[in-house]
Amino acid sequence: MSPRASSRNVKPFAAVAAAFGALIVFISATWPTNAQDATYTPEFTGDKMLKIPEGKIWREWTYVGSLVTPNALNDGNAPFPEHHMVYIDPASWVHYKKTGEFREGTVIAKELTRVRAPDGANENGSTDEVSGTGYFMGEYSGLEITIKSKELYPGEPGSWAYYSFGHQPEPYNATAARQSTEACNACHEATAAEDFVFTQFYPVLRAAKPK
Ligand code: HEC
Repeated sequence: MSPRASSRNVKPFAAVAAAFGALIVFISATWPTNAQDATYTPEFTGDKMLKIPEGKIWREWTYVGSLVTPNALNDGNAPFPEHHMVYIDPASWVHYKKTGEFREGTVIAKELTRVRAPDGANENGSTDEVSGTGYFMGEYSGLEITIKSKELYPGEPGSWAYYSFGHQPEPYNATAARQSTEACNACHEATAAEDFVFTQFYPVLRAAKPK
């Protein structure tokens, strides 16, 4: 075959392949793989350690509220330093909006960041930023997850189990052991407004609850 003839044959094929490739890229970019549509199922290791959700997917769940307990206002050592952001998995969010209840299988994540203070902070730990003086978000610093499941935790009060992937900058621990009832569950049972969950601090859930 002359080089001419071969290039004549290859060109149309290359054009079709390129078009097909572009189509695949277009479909995968526009296909509805939205986290809001996905049901998250917790995964465990053989020895019942909870695996950290893949792809940091909790950051794409429904945000329910946030609060801040700066170290500077807690003798330099806040138990949960320092900004807290709380998210609920999509299927449980839909169920909560309908029923006002946390369904079997509810997963709630609480992630922390430190207060931002790259150039030092005021005495109370705040910084002066363009929008005002306050507590701004710095880097991620911890992740905790709670799961409600009668099936998995028949012995836990309210069927809620609690896991901590560490209070440290990323990377978090890849797996987390279930905490003891006294370490986590007890305080939630005693002080949370609704079924062990601190809805008193989560305006998104309060507003969504059916009247
Ligand atoms: C002294 C009380 C107390 C203890 C002990 C405690 N928590 Fe909480 N927890 C809270 C409060 C208050 C909130 C509300 C949000 C916040 O302050 O960050 C909360 C919220 C949470 C949330 C978000 C969902 C919810 O229930 O509101 C998770 C997840 C969580 N805690 C995990 C843990 C884990 C894991 C432990 C044990 C290592 C633990 N907690 C121990 C007080 C406590």
